[in-house]
Amino acid sequence: MSPDLFAIARAAMAKAYAPYSKFPVGAAILTDDGRIFAGANVEVASYPEGWCAETTALGHLLMDGGGKITDILVVAQRMQHITPCGGCRQRLAEFATPDARVHLCDQYGITETMTLGALLPRGFRAEVLK
Ligand code: THU
Repeated sequence: MSPDLFAIARAAMAKAYAPYSKFPVGAAILTDDGRIFAGANVEVASYPEGWCAETTALGHLLMDGGGKITDILVVAQRMQHITPCGGCRQRLAEFATPDARVHLCDQYGITETMTLGALLPRGFRAEVLK
């Protein structure tokens, strides 16, 4: 994995717009061809309209044409080992396979790595819509 993923997610976290929760989050997504997409959470005065760091990063990936996600890293300023929220697990599972690695962090780097499949077991799958 690129050693830059944590630094890139931290830099994204510094751009979070989180005036209401004061809970900045940064995310970075790595593809198998070495591209990295970063994101931060964005909040809105009408609270439910805000969105997560992982969702911002996914949007960047898609606007660059998508790709095979190998790694997802999430870091929060005020929480160790933050894991993607339920909605983001479902969004990540839309564009990544269950073997994608999800890296959880403290303020200094990766502390735990697990798979997306382990984070979202038995998630709703698009196949049933066909
Ligand atoms: N948040 C994320 O960006 N990612 C997550 O996986 C969990 C929560 C954000 C959303 C909101 O702006 C703030 O953290 C507090 O919930």
